[in-house]
Amino acid sequence: MSTAEDLLGKAPSDAFIQMRDIVKTFKTQAGEFTALKNVSVHLHRGEFVGVVGKSGSGKSTLVNMLTGIDHPTSGEVQIGGTLVHKLKESKMARWRGRNLGIVFQFYQLLPMLSLIENVMLPMDLSEMYSPSKREERAMDLLDRVGLAAVAHDMPANVSGGQQQSAAIARALANDPPLIVADEPTGNLDSRSAGTVFGIFGELAKQGKTIVMVTHDNALAERASRKLVIADGEIVNETVAIALPMLTHEQMLKATKHLQARTFAPGETIIRQGESNDAFYMIADGYTDVIVEHGQGREVSVARLGPGEHFGEVELLHEGNRAIASIRATLQSAVRVRALGRQVFQELITEADAMHETLTSVVRQRTAENAMVQRPDRRSRYVETALA
Ligand SMILES: Nc1ncnc2c1ncn2[C@@H]1O[C@H](COP(=O)(O)OP(=O)(O)OP(=O)(O)O)[C@@H](O)[C@H]1O
Ligand SMILES: [Mg+2]
Repeated sequence: MSTAEDLLGKAPSDAFIQMRDIVKTFKTQAGEFTALKNVSVHLHRGEFVGVVGKSGSGKSTLVNMLTGIDHPTSGEVQIGGTLVHKLKESKMARWRGRNLGIVFQFYQLLPMLSLIENVMLPMDLSEMYSPSKREERAMDLLDRVGLAAVAHDMPANVSGGQQQSAAIARALANDPPLIVADEPTGNLDSRSAGTVFGIFGELAKQGKTIVMVTHDNALAERASRKLVIADGEIVNETVAIALPMLTHEQMLKATKHLQARTFAPGETIIRQGESNDAFYMIADGYTDVIVEHGQGREVSVARLGPGEHFGEVELLHEGNRAIASIRATLQSAVRVRALGRQVFQELITEADAMHETLTSVVRQRTAENAMVQRPDRRSRYVETALA
């Protein structure tokens, strides 16, 4: 995992994919069911996005909004400047043919066509490439996914992993900027899943945007960005990175209580000796952890960056006087997501894993600070800290 939307700091209006305030309601026999509750997501070109969530959380419903397989009840989907939710069926088919590659769980290759014929099919439909170029291009794409040797085989004669690789080559036929894949590795053994994941990773490096739904959290972790969806809502990405030990429902609870705050370069966020009533997760920028030990002397003991957190020492300790100051670095502003004391307490009561992790962080940070406070150890420690 690397950066989150929160961490990128790019204006959403620059984003390649903009999903704004998406609500999707299904009419069922039991009444209306809201599968997506006001979801907003912005994705950039070249991002490889893993979408995870429990069964029924809304993953397929979300990606069906991108592919136009389904339409939002309200809200907007804009991809590369096109308002996808407004396209009528005929324009939608044309747009999809040129801009989108779709990969499904069960490959969906045509069984009576060879792999190369399957890959040529979208080119025949879009007529983007002259007939004489199509076969050469299809072969080139199959070569890129490691299937040149079996290009003329029928789907039934190759493995599931190879069929899925061929389906990816087919999705690339018209060189679309976006590939959407719903559980593309769901039917594969872990080795084939790794191969398919690797192909997507390469494509993202070449500038394609990949949106891949998966049940496999470990795979999603290896994408450049992970979106967690719980009960039709998107978990804040800073929360998902800072508190990975929470269940998706607990992450969502934290998301709903977050306060966004920005501190100027050099601004003090927590002052040593004063009270602190919030738990902070860094979305963007860096902070220094500074221990003051009299006569205005101070030692910088650590630097914290995106996805890291502070404030837990005071919230978990008796008496909430800060044991160190936290200050935005001079280089840039710091954007944080903060949780108030009460929600923080509720979460650690509900989530043993969070309590355990943070308790050990507190133990470690308190020990480090105590070390800095002892003059005989100080110089050695500072040397180490600065190394
Ligand atoms: N056409 C539909 N009509 C009624 N309800 C639907 C429809 N499609 C999806 N739902 C409901 O919306 C919710 C989200 O479904 P969705 O298929 O998006 O989940 P998912 O996260 O993809 O799950 P899975 O991991 O099982 O594929 C589920 O409760 C599902 O029953
Ligand atoms: Mg699904």
